[in-house]
Amino acid sequence: MKHHIIAAATLLLSAIPAVRAEVPVYQDESRPIDERVEDALKRMTLREKVAMCHAQGKFCSPGVPRLGIPDLWMSDGPHGVRAEVNWNDWGVAGWTNDSITAFPALTALAATWNPTLAGLYGNAIGEEALYREKDVMLGPGVNIYRTPLNGRNFEYMGEDPYLAGEMVVPYIREMQKNGVAACVKHYALNNQERWRGHINVNLSDRALHEIYLPAFKKAVIDGGSWSIMGAYNKVRGEHACHNDLLLNKILKGDWNFDGVVISDWGGTHDTREAALNGLDLEMGTYTNGLTTESANGTDAYYLANPYLAMLESGELPMSTLDDKVRRLLRLNFRTAARRNKAYGSIASPEHYAVAEAIGNEAVVLLKNAPVGKKQPALLPVDASRYDRILVVGENATRNLMAGGGSSELKPKDIVTPLEALKAIYGDKVEYTEGYRSGRAMYSNVDKIPVEVVDSLRNTAVDMARKGGLVIFIGGLNKNNSQDCEDSDRKEYGLPFGQPALIEQIAAVNPDVVVVLLGGNAVEMPWASKVPAILQGWYLGSMGGNPIANILSGAVNPSGKLPFSFPARLEDNAAHHFGTISYPGDSINQEYLEDILVGYRWHDTKKIPALYPFGHGLSYTTFSYGKPVASAGTISEGENITISIPVTNTGDREGKETVQLYIGDEKASVIRPLKELKGFDKVALAPGEMQTVTFTVTPDDLKFYDPSTSSWIAEPGRFKAYIGSSSTDIRATVPFELR
Ligand code: BGC
Repeated sequence: MKHHIIAAATLLLSAIPAVRAEVPVYQDESRPIDERVEDALKRMTLREKVAMCHAQGKFCSPGVPRLGIPDLWMSDGPHGVRAEVNWNDWGVAGWTNDSITAFPALTALAATWNPTLAGLYGNAIGEEALYREKDVMLGPGVNIYRTPLNGRNFEYMGEDPYLAGEMVVPYIREMQKNGVAACVKHYALNNQERWRGHINVNLSDRALHEIYLPAFKKAVIDGGSWSIMGAYNKVRGEHACHNDLLLNKILKGDWNFDGVVISDWGGTHDTREAALNGLDLEMGTYTNGLTTESANGTDAYYLANPYLAMLESGELPMSTLDDKVRRLLRLNFRTAARRNKAYGSIASPEHYAVAEAIGNEAVVLLKNAPVGKKQPALLPVDASRYDRILVVGENATRNLMAGGGSSELKPKDIVTPLEALKAIYGDKVEYTEGYRSGRAMYSNVDKIPVEVVDSLRNTAVDMARKGGLVIFIGGLNKNNSQDCEDSDRKEYGLPFGQPALIEQIAAVNPDVVVVLLGGNAVEMPWASKVPAILQGWYLGSMGGNPIANILSGAVNPSGKLPFSFPARLEDNAAHHFGTISYPGDSINQEYLEDILVGYRWHDTKKIPALYPFGHGLSYTTFSYGKPVASAGTISEGENITISIPVTNTGDREGKETVQLYIGDEKASVIRPLKELKGFDKVALAPGEMQTVTFTVTPDDLKFYDPSTSSWIAEPGRFKAYIGSSSTDIRATVPFELR
């Protein structure tokens, strides 16, 4: 007996190295990452490799425990680090240490037109992810805003690929400097939530390359994103998560992406396609990504046991697996396995300051007129004129970080607009709800009784009638069928009876400012009846402060719209072509407006938007001088620089975003009247002048030619448009390409 014990012990001990061996190559951070990847790969068993390719919990995929390679932890994304959910169901885990900073929604970030702020955002969220021990943040999103009904537009950066691309790059770079990976989503063409799991998007090569891919391309090539998330929908017959064209040919081929393609949660549908068509990591299968659970464990995932079986039988080549594992190891070494990481921090004063700074530059002053004939414009509020300030509207107090789907957040602190206004105006402020939406989370919908609706409205109108200033704070919210994942909006107008309420208030009190919170354009048949309108987005934890800062004039507004506000839904290009264009026939969908998305449509078809792309007023005024171009004619491959002096002609300091658009005057194909190719946000003191200089490169003149799969510019006349919005053009510069 004793003999046996000693033998067993000797056997065990022989498996333990007597002295600490030298550091294996894959663990040696001084070596090139790909050398480490190869070293780790050759030590791994088949099962260990397959295990890496799929989830083990809701937001966790395995490393290689035997080799000490850590698990990979992910989190939503994109506006803050999401609260913990259970290991493998959607239930809230109920931790008490996962309250964070909620940053402004990406639509708001885009409205700043300030890439420096995008970098601060990325860094701050990276620091919060570090503290929460997350390796991959599921965001940012750069799907193009195609229709104002898309429930998830608030998570994206607007309708223009150039703007979205310029804003996403610093976000990714600064976040990844922390050793936290970005996961750009949802690649590609997830431009609506309706039927998102299966709708098959058909579109031209030009629309794909000119409109829907450029922001992703910049995120990958210039931003260097370490991962990307496949979309739920199909593209030309194949699910985007295992789509040969999107993943193999374009992303990994043309763009040389060396990171990991992660499926959207439940976006994988087939083992062979997933193995062959570019998916690397399968997450959330057999669920809808939000609420439903599955009886199957993760071993049943397409890239789990079924994949293993097909690899073992030789039906699928090992090379598909090794490519995935190389990418997964690379991502792991860049993030989870990295030793010299900073500690990070959450809900810090520094992060609150970033959130507020973004909010201050995001709010868009859509309209600012005098009340009647006599006074100056209504805003900023002249408090000396009012002995009472009546705040009306549910969004003045509502937590707009709750709901909305996977981007929901649990903020440590919240400043509501009502609190921020009270901090400035004190006892002058009175509040009444005016309307109530209740909660509508997926299947649970609160019904508000008619008597309640009537009484809320009547109370608000009665209080407004008593005089003073009325600040109406409404808009959309994160309820189902509003700005919310998995469903689209059902109407273009404001919900919950707000249009009638606004009109009734304006009828009894002319001093009304309407503040709209939300991530989408809305119909405003009442716009002419109110003197001032602000677009206030979703601004996160510190959300109330920027609203109050702008209303009071502590901050001069400088946000510009990242998408058009059509007057009527049918003025939007996607809707112009009827249901086959949006939302499709439930199986297929055709992008019939082609490249004419957003302002490209309004401009080219001469259908003015109510508030156009790039629009946003200031409390000061800016005048644009005469532009100077470096040349009138250029040859192929040459740049041209255009400079223009911009002066603050008002009496307050302010920021102006000078926008450059280029139009091809005559082309053999349809081209938009003009397209954004540059912008620069300048801060100017009263009377100060600055010269803004743009470099127009040969690429700025090109369109995608499907017959040669390349970008070409046709010789002839072009025009540069420089303006304060896409329709407020202050100067044009004609030039010719030889
Ligand atoms: C969403 C993704 C999200 C994922 C994980 C999905 O429902 O579409 O954007 O990252 O869930 O929560």
